[in-house]
Amino acid sequence: MAKPRVYITRPLPQPAMRILEGAVEYRLWDREDEPVPRENLLREVVDVDGVICLITEKMDAEVVDRMRRSAVIAQVAVGYDNIDVAAATRRGIFVTNTPGVLTETTADMGWAILMATARRVVEGDKFTRSGRWKTWELMGFTGQDVHGATLGIIGLGRIGAAIARRARGFAMTILYHNRRRADALEAEVGARYVSLDDLLRQSDFVMVSCALTADTRHLIGERELGLMKPTAVLVNIARGPIVDQRALYRALVDRKIWAAGLDVFEVEPVPMDEALLKLDNAVIPPHLGSASTATRIKMATMAAENCLAGVSGRVPPNVVNPEAAERR
Ligand code: GLV
Repeated sequence: MAKPRVYITRPLPQPAMRILEGAVEYRLWDREDEPVPRENLLREVVDVDGVICLITEKMDAEVVDRMRRSAVIAQVAVGYDNIDVAAATRRGIFVTNTPGVLTETTADMGWAILMATARRVVEGDKFTRSGRWKTWELMGFTGQDVHGATLGIIGLGRIGAAIARRARGFAMTILYHNRRRADALEAEVGARYVSLDDLLRQSDFVMVSCALTADTRHLIGERELGLMKPTAVLVNIARGPIVDQRALYRALVDRKIWAAGLDVFEVEPVPMDEALLKLDNAVIPPHLGSASTATRIKMATMAAENCLAGVSGRVPPNVVNPEAAERR
């Protein structure tokens, strides 16, 4: 019997490839440092039974509608806002993601960014290297205290909760805002539910860790930034478009808020003429939330397993649209 055919949009680490080898026939976009061009993607998906993709691929209706044979789109990430899930469901295509395995790693990174921003680690590092360090200055590079401060978490899901657990070690007051109250988690992590406006008004650190949806696009705009304390730090480890980046830039320049730590951006990679790049009070790693070696291998492995299940006629373990089964 012919093996199922799979298209993979970027080289995957060996443990993930071993799951697929022998079980499927695959084609691969073989560049680590460059996403598959749109025209290749549109061509490649036509005759395959499944696709493994990254967040860099826009799996919109135009792409999905070409996937006439496919059973599954296996995303190597927990967020899947790059995939038109409704279009996939209409075609009976399962969409899968990689929840759980990246929770702690991403929470670690949220904290790394929070700390680096609060204590001006990146700015200080650049200063040391520049040769401008002449003396220890009493008030030089002073930042914001993290211990004992108030942390407001927007989105107390898996990652938000893991961030909250770490905050207890810093004796922080923890507030959160969610679409729905998370009663069980609230008690476990010691977080208090407040409205979004109250969270913004009261927090010293605002951590954005909710999913990007139609409801959360530009959830944080000029009005919301205006509610924050002038000493507050905004950290976004979720998705860029949740924050209105233009409004954030103005708030940082005008010192409406003190600083921002951003792992994600409205446009990625960030264009080199983006004004934000010139600001000292912004820490801006290139979307590294889940980027530990072990976690990225686990994510790729999970996506390979999801894909293999889908192309073998099974419901994949991490399906986000189980209702697609009814369209098959
Ligand atoms: C990365 O951003 C992810 O959603 O896993």
